[in-house]
Amino acid sequence: MATTRHHLQLISVVTLLLSLPLSATPNKEQQSNPISRFRNYLKINTAHPTPNYTAAVNYLIAFAATIPTLKTQTLYLTTPDKPLLLITYPGSNPTLPAILFNSHLDSVPAEPSKWLHNPFSAHHSTDGKIYARGAQDDKCIGMQYLEAIKSLKKSNLNYTPLRTVHISYVPDEEIGGFNGMAKFVESKEFKELNIGFVLDEGQASVNDEFRVFYADRSPWHLVIKAEGEPGHGSRMFDNSAMENMMKSVEVVMKFRENQFDLVKAGVAMNSEVVSANPVFFKAGIETPSGFVMNMQPSEVMAGFDVRLPPTVDPDLMRRRIVEEWAPAWRNMTYEITEKGPLRDYMGRPLMTATNDSNPWWSVFKQAIEESGGKLSRPEILPSTTDARFMRQLGIPTLGFSPMKNTPILLHDHNEFLKDSVYLEGIQIYEHIIRALSSFDGASFT
Ligand SMILES: *[C@@H]1O[C@H](CO)[C@@H](O)[C@H](O)[C@H]1NC(C)=O
Ligand SMILES: *[C@@H]1O[C@H](CO)[C@@H](O)[C@H](O)[C@H]1NC(C)=O
Ligand SMILES: *[C@@H]1O[C@H](CO)[C@@H](O)[C@H](O)[C@H]1NC(C)=O
Ligand SMILES: [Zn+2]
Repeated sequence: MATTRHHLQLISVVTLLLSLPLSATPNKEQQSNPISRFRNYLKINTAHPTPNYTAAVNYLIAFAATIPTLKTQTLYLTTPDKPLLLITYPGSNPTLPAILFNSHLDSVPAEPSKWLHNPFSAHHSTDGKIYARGAQDDKCIGMQYLEAIKSLKKSNLNYTPLRTVHISYVPDEEIGGFNGMAKFVESKEFKELNIGFVLDEGQASVNDEFRVFYADRSPWHLVIKAEGEPGHGSRMFDNSAMENMMKSVEVVMKFRENQFDLVKAGVAMNSEVVSANPVFFKAGIETPSGFVMNMQPSEVMAGFDVRLPPTVDPDLMRRRIVEEWAPAWRNMTYEITEKGPLRDYMGRPLMTATNDSNPWWSVFKQAIEESGGKLSRPEILPSTTDARFMRQLGIPTLGFSPMKNTPILLHDHNEFLKDSVYLEGIQIYEHIIRALSSFDGASFT
């Protein structure tokens, strides 16, 4: 008995060792599976204002090292605490334009006291939900890209992509991307990649269809200012700053109502209209306990968050502001701070075609269908992402995160992703990566 048992133990140890990649230690690899690797990535706190990018990048490099033929490169385009990780899966024809899969390393902050579980513990509940800041936005895709390549290589040892596939992990997306993707696209390293097509983050879908985004809305911070004669609180007179501002606010709110009516009537999606929401009013003369009440102020300011889809002509919008929202004849001035581009380097609207004129679209769409998935009508994202920096260079870029039947919880308390949804996403990317990387471009004219 004793001898037999000893023998069996020896066999199982040998089997275990044989099944392991040489680089990994037995214990680690044994406990490691796509879900545990995802949870470990989520446990790395990369929330603002103090994202630990170095820890996240080190983790990704260690994982990439377990996948044969992947090359990694860390770029420092600003400060040493803002690394940008580039992982490369070399194709057999490096002269063809490459594919880029992008995700950001950072996430928005979380208030632990408002969560069911610590947002950085990646709690895995019995019903399969993985709770963590970044679970949807967008650490899921960052790990899924690598898992898909790992799985692809495992199931087809001979598979070599025709086109090179790059995966980028960029800092600072949630704070505007100015020290992240914006710097990357300007770098010589980026130009040398010769990128032909990009997939970046999308959003969860509450139904059975995957969502895909072909444009972002671009934010304008609009501040309008009215000036007029001050006057005693008791006096009625025309053209006070307050009266002039109220007229403008009425006009803006009427415009807002008309845009919103299109959404309510089902004619347009939220992201396809111009939103204009008042965010501050500043007026009155303050006292330690409130405001001076018998004085009509000579200056009033109001701020609006305006978001423009690329289908809207920004010059027409500017004219509307000059003529109707802040007309000089009503003694008003305005300031627009454009928080993002609306046109690409050729002056074309910042959007990626989702029809047959874009061969990448057709390959992408077909890959989703082959994986058994369905795509809903392509949408404009209501907010902005790093995709705008690539579109600005004229590179076709789609936003896509394979999360269906999932509530949209980005930036919300209790952000979670179900394990089954995450695992299905890996399979979807396997199809996408295979299709895009083997696309020979014969249909390009
Ligand atoms: C980042 O995480 C690593 C461990 O992964 C830790 O050693 C380091 O101290 C962290 N850095 C900061 C600034 O917290
Ligand atoms: C604009 O300001 C001028 C100078 O203070 C004033 O005479 C005029 O009535 C004002 N017009 C309007 C529409 O507020
Ligand atoms: C494809 O879409 C683009 C952008 O939306 C549009 O300008 C173009 O006319 C469309 N082409 C075809 C062939 O439908
Ligand atoms: Zn995001």
